[in-house]
Amino acid sequence: APQVPDILSPGFEANPYQAYRLMRDEFPLFQHEATGSYVISRYDDVAYVFKDRKGEFTTENYDWQIEPVHGRTILQLSGGEHAVRRALVAPAFRGSDLREKFLPVIERNSRTLIDGFRASGSVDLVADYASRFPVNVIADMLGLDKADHARFHGWYTAVIAFLGNLSGDPEVARAGERTRVEFAEYMLPIIRERRTNPGDDLLSTLCTAEVDGVRMSDEDVKAFCSLLLAAGGETTDKAIAGIFANLLRHPEQLEAVRADRSLIPQAFAETLRYTPPVHMIMRQAATDVALSGGTVPAGATVTCLIGAANRDESRYRDPGTFDIFRTDLTTTTAFSAAADHLAFALGRHFCVGALLAKAEVETGVGHLLDAMPDLRLADGFDPVEHGVFTRGPKTLPLRFTPVSP
Ligand code: HEM
Repeated sequence: APQVPDILSPGFEANPYQAYRLMRDEFPLFQHEATGSYVISRYDDVAYVFKDRKGEFTTENYDWQIEPVHGRTILQLSGGEHAVRRALVAPAFRGSDLREKFLPVIERNSRTLIDGFRASGSVDLVADYASRFPVNVIADMLGLDKADHARFHGWYTAVIAFLGNLSGDPEVARAGERTRVEFAEYMLPIIRERRTNPGDDLLSTLCTAEVDGVRMSDEDVKAFCSLLLAAGGETTDKAIAGIFANLLRHPEQLEAVRADRSLIPQAFAETLRYTPPVHMIMRQAATDVALSGGTVPAGATVTCLIGAANRDESRYRDPGTFDIFRTDLTTTTAFSAAADHLAFALGRHFCVGALLAKAEVETGVGHLLDAMPDLRLADGFDPVEHGVFTRGPKTLPLRFTPVSP
């Protein structure tokens, strides 16, 4: 008889997609032995939990995972408290702020990184571009000193190592907690400065935002900026690496995108469905909740497997095939982040940065294709994904013939 897969084992990490299918077919709801959390994998169940129309779930159980490195962020808030925080931060990531203030920042940062390798004929797309681009964009959006970008990147590395520390390495844990202290020492004086002397940057916007007489405290603003390292950095990093890994494995689709750049949004959406950067999201059941396969008891943690739900046969035709031309996937537009894949979640906590991510990835992919018209994988290299909470290629060595800008 088939066995319930262990979602935290090395064998699972090597190929989760096979295990995901078994879960959807045979174990749509099961309790993970080591953690006690209830695991769901079907599209309808995961979408139901994310939408949470009846208010059956909270995100309180994020506290143990996120609090030590970020403090209390929007992700841990529920109900009215979350709604107010969301109203305070969301406008900064869409509309005219995105188009007029941040698009130029995105363009500039992408070009600067590409200028660093475009003449060399080779690049590790993860180390030299994807892992730097979104973090540099966030630092610039916040209006931080260029001289501090390297430190900012160091905190980014420590934070994502902390959040992905499955084996509980004590050195990684200590480095994450140190980062929280260093980040606060760095950010809090700048936050106080911007309150009295606001500029045109995201940090000033966050400091001065007001909804129904409520403002964020210095600590709230700092925690939000800290969250952006992981929420806005690691995800976009993995999306850029993922889109190229997928296209390079499907050369005819790479060729199509190269010839017609208007296909980039479809390639991005299909990448988010097929290889989402975030695979696991947690919720806490506030009451008993019936899902396919049984009932989640009040108080239990629910682990929502986005990577499994996005490949549900009952939602997508031939879900195990990467196909940017599929017609059963609704994608984001320039004005709306609404999508039916679950990579940005749904409902109250739907990714605040979805349109920013889209602008970064679409700009970046265009620039990279221009700079490397004949890009290919380094000889004999086969892209491998890593990670179970977040997932993507750790390295993506490419070769190309340099062209003049
Ligand atoms: C929330 C994915 C890019 C900021 C989320 C959530 C997911 C997600 C799955 C929901 C978490 C949950 O419900 O527990 C992604 C992916 C991205 C991306 C796949 C890139 C392709 C960004 C960017 C930013 C950002 C660029 C901002 C700079 C946030 C924030 C939240 C969030 C602040 C919390 C929203 C809330 O709690 O209301 N993201 N994200 N994300 N994301 Fe993103």
